[in-house]
Amino acid sequence: MTPLLSVRKLSRVFSSNGGFLRKKRQFRAVSDVSFDVRRGDVLGVVGESGCGKSTLARLVLRLIEPSAGAVMFDGQDIASLPAGAIRPLRRHFQMVFQDPYSSIDPRLTVRDALLEPFQVQDIKMTKVAAKSKIDALLTEVSLPLSMADSYQHQLSGGQKQRVGIARALALSPALVVLDEPTASLDVSIQAQVIALLQELRDRLDLTYMFISHDLALVQYFCDRILVMYLGRIVEILPRGELPVHPYTKALMDSAFVPDPNQRRDIPRIYGEIPSGYDEPTGCAFVGRCPLAEARCSKSLPRLQSLSENHAVACHVQGPVNVPMEFQNAL
Ligand SMILES: Nc1ncnc2c1ncn2[C@@H]1O[C@H](COP(=O)(O)OP(=O)(O)OP(=O)(O)O)[C@@H](O)[C@H]1O
Ligand code: SF4
Ligand SMILES: [Mg+2]
Repeated sequence: MTPLLSVRKLSRVFSSNGGFLRKKRQFRAVSDVSFDVRRGDVLGVVGESGCGKSTLARLVLRLIEPSAGAVMFDGQDIASLPAGAIRPLRRHFQMVFQDPYSSIDPRLTVRDALLEPFQVQDIKMTKVAAKSKIDALLTEVSLPLSMADSYQHQLSGGQKQRVGIARALALSPALVVLDEPTASLDVSIQAQVIALLQELRDRLDLTYMFISHDLALVQYFCDRILVMYLGRIVEILPRGELPVHPYTKALMDSAFVPDPNQRRDIPRIYGEIPSGYDEPTGCAFVGRCPLAEARCSKSLPRLQSLSENHAVACHVQGPVNVPMEFQNAL
């Protein structure tokens, strides 16, 4: 079956303006990223701050333009469609942000916020149909119907995120991209929102791309996990399978400490992330990697399959440990 989402060689470069006596510089936020998401799956996306997770999410939803690559949604390349042709398709892919009210006018009531997606799509409804739609959406996310008249400042963090989820569901999308949806919530509220997302996925047949800093949560919630480092995928692995890439191992080792309050964020791994302005010719992890060899700084490790659902980009831990000069022949 065709995957719901197929991303191929997707890249995004940001250019700095340069200025007086300063050269214009290019920053590679996402480089050569390829992956599939099957219908009904939850794909987790993890990596340290600044590794390109949100940029990838925005590219997948065509909220920003790619520098190169394809984003096939249900078999159609939305990365190359003219901007005007995207609008009617938007109802099929929606986003939930860490702070849902960053994209909602605070002067709107919950009712108005939930009706906005229909207005954007020029979908006209009678008053009666609009009321029953709002009631259905509030019920879907377990909020009381009376909350339709509330304003942002009257809602708790968890309630705001439920409104954000209801808004994303308004047009019955197939794919929902969730960018750290529970990162600013208390642990107990976070668990309720995750339970709601699980229930909605099962009931509404949704497919999720779930971005998070919380590896324990991603291991629990996601079917597959995509690990990014400096704009590139270093490993994609199924839930429960042992990581192979030294970066994923370091992330996971330090994530599973017994105290849940200590493990919410990806901890700092020894060493600094190199700058995306000066992309190294070899593996970007070389300066921090305990397994690094001479060849690691000479050529970029390509993402190679270990099994049907598991791929890794590492010279040493890759599927075939072949000398560098023969690698391009594979
Ligand atoms: N519009 C932009 N112009 C220039 N640089 C940008 C822009 N958007 C993102 N970047 C840069 O691209 C890199 C990736 O940013 P991105 O927000 O995708 O990271 P992230 O993995 O989501 O980080 P976090 O975990 O902190 O949310 C960062 O270095 C960021 O500064
Ligand atoms: S390619 Fe080399 S430096 Fe990069 S992760 Fe693998 S062993 Fe470490
Ligand atoms: Mg982000």
